[in-house]
Amino acid sequence: MLQTVDPRTLQAEAFRADVLAGLARRQKALPSRWLYDDRGCELFEAITKLEEYYPTRAETAILRMHAAEIADFCGKEAVLLEYGAGAAFKTEILLGALATPRLYVPIDIAGNFLQRTAARIRRRFARLQIRPLAADFTADFEIPSGVPLTPRIGFFPGSTIGNLDEAETLAFLSRMRAHVGPQGKALIGVDLKKDIPTLLAAYDDKKGVTAAFNLNLLARVNCELRGTFALDRYAHEARWNDAESAVEMHLVSLCRQRAAVAGRSFAFAAGETIHTESSRKYSADGFADFARRGGWKIGAMWTDRRFGVFGMCAA
Ligand code: AVI
Repeated sequence: MLQTVDPRTLQAEAFRADVLAGLARRQKALPSRWLYDDRGCELFEAITKLEEYYPTRAETAILRMHAAEIADFCGKEAVLLEYGAGAAFKTEILLGALATPRLYVPIDIAGNFLQRTAARIRRRFARLQIRPLAADFTADFEIPSGVPLTPRIGFFPGSTIGNLDEAETLAFLSRMRAHVGPQGKALIGVDLKKDIPTLLAAYDDKKGVTAAFNLNLLARVNCELRGTFALDRYAHEARWNDAESAVEMHLVSLCRQRAAVAGRSFAFAAGETIHTESSRKYSADGFADFARRGGWKIGAMWTDRRFGVFGMCAA
């Protein structure tokens, strides 16, 4: 008899493997997607409301200001596939502007959050069909066969593309290109390069919400992987990496110490860090080049100079 494996078990195994491998590296590192458990999602929502964290406000204003033009770019009867939907607040702006959208497919790794988001969108857009899909958009997955093929629009707001490395970015762009088909289009929110103090402040706010978001990853390890991290002996740090054109989040060990995870022990020197996230910042030309390599051409760009929403067509 064919046995199906519970996706939560697969997730738990993937988390364990990533943490054990990441902590064994010379530069300890944990993939940023694990920042988003339920608490992490709540903290990220709080980050988006912070004074220092401009990307959400900038993108929201761009979507509002250019809603009609963006809707025009998408066309009628759109089938909207949203990658990493999260709370999908900005999606409401787009859905409100689109002419008779046909179907909304929010895709997210956080299943509980996804259901809550779908329920909220359903209340606001009673006539819209919604088909939530629990999937990790950084890995290959299929769009269910019942989702009409045309006209599919990939929507990836929030500058989440900046959290992917070069290989992941190209794989993501190619995957989305395959999902939408030859007539497909995409809208991607991209945070643009700017002065470094503004960038660092956005990832190290005065209230310490970003610090709590970062440290929550260790709390998650403690809770889900029998971890023994003493949370008060690690601190949040945001750094600019010029070679990567990225703001990096690290967790700095405040003293020489050890922590166990799933029965394995890891040593930390004082000042040693765990790299938990990179948030790449693009120039408009730099992003257009990536898009081309991923099978797209840029059809439009709406920007306030801090942030860009790129309208792309399958090449
Ligand atoms: C989700 N992502 C686009 C955020 C960013 O700006 O890179 C995550 C984040 N990390 C710290 N603050 C926000």
